[in-house]
Amino acid sequence: MIEFYLDTVDLEQISRFNHCLPLKGITTNPTILAKAGIGINRLLPEITSLLGGHTRVHIQVVSDSVEGMVLEAQKLHALSYDIVVKVPATEIGLAAIRQIKRDAIPVLATAIYSAEQGFLAAACGADYLAPYVNRMDVLGIDGVAVVSDLQDLVECNQFDSVLLPASFKNSQQVLRVLKLGVGAITLPVNVVEGLVSPGIVHPAVEQFNQDWQTVFGSQKSYES
Ligand code: E4P
Repeated sequence: MIEFYLDTVDLEQISRFNHCLPLKGITTNPTILAKAGIGINRLLPEITSLLGGHTRVHIQVVSDSVEGMVLEAQKLHALSYDIVVKVPATEIGLAAIRQIKRDAIPVLATAIYSAEQGFLAAACGADYLAPYVNRMDVLGIDGVAVVSDLQDLVECNQFDSVLLPASFKNSQQVLRVLKLGVGAITLPVNVVEGLVSPGIVHPAVEQFNQDWQTVFGSQKSYES
């Protein structure tokens, strides 16, 4: 079963979509947390009380050295939550991932812009790989094709890494990625909104209800 994440810390929206989607948890990045003005010591208890103790939260390190990233990962892992440590798949990040995995700490390699970059992160032991679909698209790189290549590389090399594509701006990108059979995905609120409540569906449902009420009034189906 694919793991669904929301790429937000907006508690109202997380609560809203938790009712209609089987959410595994949320993903965050430093920009998302900074924009919301919320640190993880406030976020984690609030998310857990909303979604329950099984909730998985992906949190990115902000250090720029291997030692700093490793220490951050250890500190995050020591918290009593299901945390996956996000590490940018840079040269320093790859070195950090190798060290962090020696402690068996769950890691997501983030900021992946090519299949070969994702391959290296998988080879270093990353549990999740986050290729940035829309960010590649705006650079003229076919983001979905990169996800597809990376999925092939992971499978043919028998890596355990799970692809968790991120950075989506429209439902077509999502559909094309889902067709690849990725193990996880994270979506921003506006994209999820378009998926669960596409504008064209409401008029059809309203017409059904209007037709029903014209003949049966307020009776329910089982009363007719
Ligand atoms: C997720 O892990 C990434 O931080 C995020 O999806 C980036 O998305 P953006 O390109 O919309 O900022």
